[in-house]
Amino acid sequence: MMKSKGNILAVDDTPASLKLLSDILKEEGYEVRSAINGELALHSATHNRPELVLLDIRMPGMDGFELCRRLKAQPQTRDVPVIFVSAISDTVEKVQGFELGAVDFVTKPYQREELLARVRTHLEVDRLRNHLEERVAERTQKLKTSLLDFIAAIASTVEMRDPYTAGHQRRVASLAAAIARELKLPEDQTEGLYLAGLVHDLGKIRIPAEILCKPGRLTALEFGLIQEHSNTGYDILKPIDFPWPIAQTVLQHHERQDGSGYPHGLKGEAILLEARILAVADVVEAMVSHRPYRAGLGVEVALEEITRHKGTLYDPEVVNACLSMFREQGYSLPA
Ligand SMILES: [Fe+2]
Repeated sequence: MMKSKGNILAVDDTPASLKLLSDILKEEGYEVRSAINGELALHSATHNRPELVLLDIRMPGMDGFELCRRLKAQPQTRDVPVIFVSAISDTVEKVQGFELGAVDFVTKPYQREELLARVRTHLEVDRLRNHLEERVAERTQKLKTSLLDFIAAIASTVEMRDPYTAGHQRRVASLAAAIARELKLPEDQTEGLYLAGLVHDLGKIRIPAEILCKPGRLTALEFGLIQEHSNTGYDILKPIDFPWPIAQTVLQHHERQDGSGYPHGLKGEAILLEARILAVADVVEAMVSHRPYRAGLGVEVALEEITRHKGTLYDPEVVNACLSMFREQGYSLPA
């Protein structure tokens, strides 16, 4: 079967006009549905989206303007191009039609060729637009995937110098994203948090490897150097124009609820939610994993730690979400 040239909904309350309109279009190879009033047209368009609507203005009950307004108000028909076909030649009414989102106006009585030319043009424009939107969405998806790969590569570069914490950032990122989902954060924000998690210790690239790997206690000077990693990470990431606050999140991931954290001693809500989530994910992962100077402490010890400091060091809601994931939903950290 040959594919139809287009699926058109024609709306007119005068049967003779409606028949003329649909005959012209059918002869040209279009698939035409007709509706004799606004209500039927709305029903038909909602249940089976047409590619174009030809719409009379003056109709009893729901008139053409009202129908156009309704079509533009619902997501499934919002993008369908509407052409008014009407005897009205009043400019004010035409302007009103365009303001409602119509793409064109055909004045009755119309010339067959003019009507067909306009229909053809608008169908073509709309198809090109849809095609373009699909291409943009495809490209965006590709870019996102390469961004993610690139960030993961940077993350593993940092971890190469610090084999004892290999995989730390990835596991923290996964846990942080899981907490964000538990807190019902929007998917987009969760995605940004995941990326921030992947590179949250990026600033450690500037810390000498012997300090990073040193078993046992650090001197005050060494600890000061370690603390610098928040600022360093921020400085590296700041020039990149991410659609998420990644640099800020990295900067704040050691800030604590009561202001006892670093580098700025921010308190409570002054700390980005992303950073508050990352803080909890970071400490839990760190305690559960093995370190050069000790074996992993186990999930229970980590959960007791965040419970003990709930509200003082850690955001209570974030802690509760994390506890419920591990204790009630059987969450476990990725390997
Ligand atoms: Fe850190």
